[in-house]
Amino acid sequence: MNPEYELALRETGRIGTGKKYFIKIFGCQMNENDSEILAGILESLDYQPAARIEEADLIVINTCAVRAKPEQKVAALLGKLQDLKREKKDLLIAVGGCMTQQEEVANYLQRRFHHVDLIFGTHQLHRFPALLKQAAESRKTVVDLGEEENREGLPIRRASKFKAWLPVIYGCNNFCSYCVVPFVRGRERSRPFREIMAEAEQLAREGFLEITLLGQNVNSYGHDLQEGRDFADLLNHIDRVEGLKRIRFLTSHPKDLSPRLIRAVAEGEHICEHFHLPVQSGSNRILEMMNRRYTRERYLELVQAIRESIPGVSITTDIIVGFPGETEADFLQTLDLVEQARFDAAFTFNYSPRRGTRAALLEDDVPQQEKSRRLERLMELQNRISRETNEALVGQVVEVLVEGASKANPEMSTGRTRNNKLVHFPRGGEKEGEMLSIKITQGRTWDLFGKRA
Ligand code: 5AD
Ligand code: SF4
Repeated sequence: MNPEYELALRETGRIGTGKKYFIKIFGCQMNENDSEILAGILESLDYQPAARIEEADLIVINTCAVRAKPEQKVAALLGKLQDLKREKKDLLIAVGGCMTQQEEVANYLQRRFHHVDLIFGTHQLHRFPALLKQAAESRKTVVDLGEEENREGLPIRRASKFKAWLPVIYGCNNFCSYCVVPFVRGRERSRPFREIMAEAEQLAREGFLEITLLGQNVNSYGHDLQEGRDFADLLNHIDRVEGLKRIRFLTSHPKDLSPRLIRAVAEGEHICEHFHLPVQSGSNRILEMMNRRYTRERYLELVQAIRESIPGVSITTDIIVGFPGETEADFLQTLDLVEQARFDAAFTFNYSPRRGTRAALLEDDVPQQEKSRRLERLMELQNRISRETNEALVGQVVEVLVEGASKANPEMSTGRTRNNKLVHFPRGGEKEGEMLSIKITQGRTWDLFGKRA
């Protein structure tokens, strides 16, 4: 256990006895992992999870700052919680994550939403018990965006019994011109190799089958350590941890994706054949303005190299439309790249200026309506390609890790293939976390159907 945390816990005591908590998550997998740590901390204070937000005595909102949309959702939720707080005087509301890590936003939230009891950043999870106690005892909003970080050995309550997140590197050094992440999550900090290995081994002992290694840019793992190990080494070692069946990783930056990494995925027994490789744009002019440090040609070469080395690999991406100065010709380059790369899926976003970033100094000159039109055209193209890619799998037998009952149809079960595609198949007594061979019978844009092979 983390000694600093243990000390804090001793001072705080079991302030959650008889109380329930609810965590509302906006944002990425890193936020989900942070939320699992928060849940672990709250349960060590004796809080119990609430099934619905209205039943909670403590609501924690873990925010995301990467685009305007999730920020607007947080503001809307906070507005709604005002009424709940009026009804329930003892309700505690805490807001943390990437939005609040920015001082101006924290100040704004404090002024605008008086019913928030605690505002905390992304760094001091280990101080959460002390902050919570302070907030419970104070009538004013407690704000703490302290910089010092201490994440090792904190309790964690994972959302799944067989899948786990495993952060390997925090922060980002890339400063893509549109992106707020380096400002809120700070510079790159790799976790020591042996700590990651110890956690992977612990997870395997606890019966976890799948782990996903997390980082804004996993490919720069190790550069800041003097351990002489890179991400490919890490993958090779984790691949040998007994009991783990699937190893995934997110996110890869195209400029740092090494032949060694491609080889590690090609040769690794449990390393899943999937790359999330955000391209952001297909126009060299825009890529340059985004400070991405690769060209469309280089990106397409990488895609080709990956596909040649790894049969059945899936490649997904992120794309932004309507970056400042993006013309129709630039956008057509993006469509053309999408056509050539034939992604399995793409997450597509309208550009939104983020405070403090270099792109925010440029005029946001693509009209909202035009952004939406481009997004629509892009999604239409990608949806067709996704459907075609999935239809091409019909007849294949794939390994599926069962995740549970299908959300849309309780007669069906759902699982994922190694290359991260969702498969539905008729229920037949299988359990969560079981590995099955499934023959694909139908492919659609977002998912596949199949039956036991
Ligand atoms: N506007 C729109 N999309 C953005 N992303 C990051 N910053 C912005 C922004 N300012 C997208 C990128 C990134 C994903 C996580 O979010 O595509 O890969
Ligand atoms: Fe943002 Fe670029 Fe870092 Fe990704 S690599 S988190 S897009 S700055």
